[in-house]
Amino acid sequence: MTALFSPLELRETTVPNRVMVSPMCQYSCDDRDGLATDWHRVHLGSRAVGGAGLVMTEATAVEPRGRISPEDLGIWSDDHRAALEPITEFVSAQGSVPAIQLAHAGRKASTSRPWEGHEPVAPEDGGWDVVGPSGEPWPYDGEAPRTEQLDQQGIERVIDSFRSGAERALAAGFEVAEVHAAHGYLLHEFLSPVTNHREDDYGGDFDDRTRLTREVTAAVREVWPDDKPVFVRISATDWLPDWDAWTVEDSVRLADQLADVGANLIDVSGGGIHPQSRPESAGPNYQLRYAERIRAETDSDIAVGAVGGITTPEQAEAVIANERADLAIVGREHLRDPYFALHAADALDATDEIEGPPQYRRAIGF
Ligand code: FNR
Repeated sequence: MTALFSPLELRETTVPNRVMVSPMCQYSCDDRDGLATDWHRVHLGSRAVGGAGLVMTEATAVEPRGRISPEDLGIWSDDHRAALEPITEFVSAQGSVPAIQLAHAGRKASTSRPWEGHEPVAPEDGGWDVVGPSGEPWPYDGEAPRTEQLDQQGIERVIDSFRSGAERALAAGFEVAEVHAAHGYLLHEFLSPVTNHREDDYGGDFDDRTRLTREVTAAVREVWPDDKPVFVRISATDWLPDWDAWTVEDSVRLADQLADVGANLIDVSGGGIHPQSRPESAGPNYQLRYAERIRAETDSDIAVGAVGGITTPEQAEAVIANERADLAIVGREHLRDPYFALHAADALDATDEIEGPPQYRRAIGF
């Protein structure tokens, strides 16, 4: 029996194996309306056919101004729920667990798609003014969008948007809700001293900077059923060793705080808070040591997902077998190979440990 194809129990949800499709923006809504399209259905659906135990949507904005680009997915109305429903139905029918990443891009919102330059889009060109913990914009090379400091009312609106986004996601059939608190987007902007210079209850010391992420996670947990898990994705480090920045020690502390408000898994990523935030290397397992450390040092029994540079079946198996993380989260390799999990089962001699679609199984014998 392999470790990679052993099930993972989180609350009363069983993830059939330890391969998760990492959230990856597709910038593919047709009319800048945040509605899922055939692209999302086929993209996510084929990764479920490919055997991943858990299929996570891209960052899905809880309010329109929280989109990274005008073409991002959203979950701010019932039309959005309805457009996502066929995806959860199909993913579940393949035996995978459908998961949604709930997101707000904060001051990094309103940019063009990567293949159109990834530049700020002005309101007159279909973009919008953005929000953050302060009025300081992301340090763009060119002109930055107007960045508004969120006031108390604005903060409450953000928390409410995550709560109602989670309610709609549940109604759409998702089984896991992941709060996106990584990569320099809104919640991370509050966590990190690099971007949070507030002097109210939401800035200053560790407890004040983590308050928004804790309140958002608690709001999601409030509407997410007790038998289903909540994940939180964090950047374990800001990768700014010479700055007053977020560190792995902070992440260990935060993981325990999040467990206290009902999070079940920490999805451990890194960076994104500033243009100078760069990993020391981006090779195999480049973030695994953070996941491993959080798993070893937290007092709670929160599960841990590792992401970054996991590209081979042997690597993914070793991550789980050596108890370095509970989930092997695979991003870009899933873009190269939607059938990563089926191929991994084959490579690890574990084809009898994975169902796989009956439509293919007889013909190719996995
Ligand atoms: C990403 N990533 C990402 N992360 C996230 O939390 N939400 C998102 O929507 C996206 N979008 C996204 C789009 C694309 C095209 C890529 C390549 C990446 C980051 C991704 O989930 C993952 O953490 C990194 O790619 C590192 O893992 P891999 O690719 O080395 O397995």
